[in-house]
Amino acid sequence: MKRIMVINGPNLNMLGEREPQTYGSQTLGEINRAISEKAARLGLSVDFFQSNSEGDIIDKIQSCKGEYDAIILNAGAFTHYSYAIRDAISATGIPVIEVHMSNVYSREDFRHKSVISAVCKGVVCGFGPDSYLMALSYLGEQEV
Ligand code: DQA
Repeated sequence: MKRIMVINGPNLNMLGEREPQTYGSQTLGEINRAISEKAARLGLSVDFFQSNSEGDIIDKIQSCKGEYDAIILNAGAFTHYSYAIRDAISATGIPVIEVHMSNVYSREDFRHKSVISAVCKGVVCGFGPDSYLMALSYLGEQEV
């Protein structure tokens, strides 16, 4: 069974109460439940991790080596400036799908640049909670 780790970065623990006009009303727990249900249907095993700390996210990415087949990563604002997370992705070599709930290209200029996209397998953004589910569908259907 393919093993997937879903990692959420800073402030994503506040989904549901955080800027609902941008991020919707679902909590991270509710989104993760939907991911678990879809994973079960697709025959994937899925685990979840959230941290507001860059170092903890790097530790988690490193610890996925040999344990997980792919990572779905919403790095939050770290997406836009964390060379350290980018290096962790390339160091471990695990396929990572970068995910964003919002369409970062329709927002502030600083969100238009991702320093991690170049080392990710692909990017899904702008579909709210479905961004995670679309990434999961890909992993369910394709060899990574
Ligand atoms: C986000 C977009 C980022 O720019 C922002 O800092 C987030 C969430 C998204 O899911 O749309 O925290 O990654």
